[in-house]
Amino acid sequence: MSSKSRPSSAAMLINAIPMILLITLSGLTIVAGWMPDVRPDLQTKQDKVLAHFIGNSTDYFKILDHNDEFVLVGAKDVIYNVSLNGLKEIARLEWHSTDADRELCALKGKHEWDCHNYLRVYALRPNGEVLLCGTNSYKPRCRHYTPVEVSSEEAGSAGHAHAMRYEVSRDVEAQGLCPYSPAHNSTYAFADGHLYSATVADFSGGDPLIYRENLRTEQYDLKQLNQPDFVGAIERNGYVLFFFRELSMEVMNFGKAVYSRVARVCKNDRGGPYSHGKSWTSFLKARLNCSVPGEFPFYFDEIQAISPIVESGSKSLIYAVFTTSVNAIPGSAVCAFNVDDILAAFDGEFKSQKDSQSHWLPVEREQVPKPRPGQCVEDSRTLTSIAVNFIKNHPLMEEAVPAVHGRPLLTKVNLHHRLTAIAVHPQVKSLSGAYYDVIYSGTDDGKVTKFINILSTHPNSTVDRLKTVVISEMQVLPLGTPIRELVISTSKNSLVVVSDGSLVSVPLHHCSHIVDCLGCLSLQDPICAWDLQTHECKNLATSQHKFGTKTYLQSLNSTKKAAASQCPHIPEMHPVRRQ
Ligand SMILES: *[C@@H]1O[C@H](CO)[C@@H](O)[C@H](O)[C@H]1NC(C)=O
Ligand SMILES: *[C@@H]1O[C@H](CO)[C@@H](O)[C@H](O)[C@H]1NC(C)=O
Ligand SMILES: *[C@@H]1O[C@H](CO)[C@@H](O)[C@H](O)[C@H]1NC(C)=O
Ligand SMILES: *[C@@H]1O[C@H](CO)[C@@H](O)[C@H](O)[C@H]1NC(C)=O
Ligand SMILES: *[C@@H]1O[C@H](CO)[C@@H](O)[C@H](O)[C@H]1NC(C)=O
Ligand SMILES: *[C@@H]1O[C@H](CO)[C@@H](O)[C@H](O)[C@H]1NC(C)=O
Repeated sequence: MSSKSRPSSAAMLINAIPMILLITLSGLTIVAGWMPDVRPDLQTKQDKVLAHFIGNSTDYFKILDHNDEFVLVGAKDVIYNVSLNGLKEIARLEWHSTDADRELCALKGKHEWDCHNYLRVYALRPNGEVLLCGTNSYKPRCRHYTPVEVSSEEAGSAGHAHAMRYEVSRDVEAQGLCPYSPAHNSTYAFADGHLYSATVADFSGGDPLIYRENLRTEQYDLKQLNQPDFVGAIERNGYVLFFFRELSMEVMNFGKAVYSRVARVCKNDRGGPYSHGKSWTSFLKARLNCSVPGEFPFYFDEIQAISPIVESGSKSLIYAVFTTSVNAIPGSAVCAFNVDDILAAFDGEFKSQKDSQSHWLPVEREQVPKPRPGQCVEDSRTLTSIAVNFIKNHPLMEEAVPAVHGRPLLTKVNLHHRLTAIAVHPQVKSLSGAYYDVIYSGTDDGKVTKFINILSTHPNSTVDRLKTVVISEMQVLPLGTPIRELVISTSKNSLVVVSDGSLVSVPLHHCSHIVDCLGCLSLQDPICAWDLQTHECKNLATSQHKFGTKTYLQSLNSTKKAAASQCPHIPEMHPVRRQ
């Protein structure tokens, strides 16, 4: 970066101070006025732990795949197949670096614990082969495994964990497919038999890229990727979407600012003509706007995690966790984005900068080549160089993608923790028959916050009113242990909480643990309702009942106190009178 394009750091500091104060103050008041539902009385509840799967914090656990029954956990020199029923290891597959690779890694100055094979990428290919890639002591490799038929007698020796039955059919270099360091924030998606990776392609981590077979983002082009931390990738409608945060090029007066982005490429991209044959012709990106609105919106600019696509009524949503930067007041938020809004952003205006001194402005319509560059086309190799160069120089869209409802669904400011992970139990049916997405979000100090949002549309207002109802906040992992990922199994009624070296499962819902009406109603969990006849807190998903009957109580759209006040004041509180 040239130092010429920046004011001296002292001048910058002086300019920056009043702005920062302004933003901080207005942000704080807005946020503070807006978070009535985070209640301290919920914070101490330690929930019942169903099961553990304990490793070592140097294992860098990463969930590589899961369904309702199993999780595949990538770790140090091994991948585990773990049953969600009791978190028991069912099988493992070991893959160690060779001595030569380990020695080379040590020679290059890496620590002993870096010089292992951390398994980071897994995909089941359409032909039944498994693709597995690991850091391999800072020299990433991928293997293709072919499943091996096992005689039932051999398989019968189970009962305890055994090796997965696969044999190696190919073993190849994986530069650009898999990170070098287990701690690198890389991601990938596997679509139509192809691996789309977002990682780094060099030992020092200075060459980030989004890659599929012969196509990549431009090397060392800060307009495309500028020190990105990737958090997730999703396939949708002929596109692969990547979510990340990076240093923003478009902010000129603040020194360094990190923004959150969604980028997309077309699955049918085949590269450009001639010398552009190894570059995407469809790589575009847009800022994600997770902010509390106001005269000076308060931004949560650093995306940390995303959910898979959640079909929420008629909308397809992606829920995401954002934080403020590490140097700012600690703040986190959960925002949701409509997939349609994301795709629409890529049809908007392009952002551009004439030279390194000028402001970033939208490209005027006449200046955009026709047909519009960056679209998915039948054969991108027949595009003109003009179109391909335009996209290369204008990968950033002018408009940010707005969050659903134009604001966060949950904010946490000035607490001693930040949100790190998210999982969504979609469309849980409440007693009234309304559906709610129940959101679980993990923190860097071992807590899980569970909440829903209730929307009320005022007839004479265009603004949706959004209420956050925090159902519970539980300390699942020891204080100080960051939660890396969350996985939901609805069939096992469990939430799996993943840290670097452990999996812990807790109940998704615990209606039946609650013995009084007060507790049941003040929980405000859409799945739990108080049965007035049997005096039990019941899970609506599993109990036989008719929705909307008068023999159950539930109160989601009120304060916890008001909810509890609906309980009958008599019988069960006075056991003597019950006789
Ligand atoms: C964790 O791993 C480290 C480094 O490999 C090792 O020294 C330590 O003994 C392990 N701890 C446990 C509890 O296994
Ligand atoms: C994990 O184990 C279960 C039970 O044996 C099996 O059905 C499943 O296919 C395994 N997963 C993988 C990826 O091997
Ligand atoms: C990856 O992201 C985490 C969480 O935001 C951050 O603490 C960590 O420093 C990042 N890792 C690297 C290697 O930058
Ligand atoms: C982000 O959203 C807020 C609230 O809807 C809005 O006020 C603000 O202008 C948006 N910012 C950008 C950069 O689009
Ligand atoms: C929730 O309560 C508010 C105010 O009490 C009301 O305006 C709104 O319509 C209610 N929303 C639902 C979904 O019941
Ligand atoms: C909505 O409109 C009605 C009638 O015009 C008015 O009485 C009421 O105060 C308005 N409500 C709000 C929230 O503005």
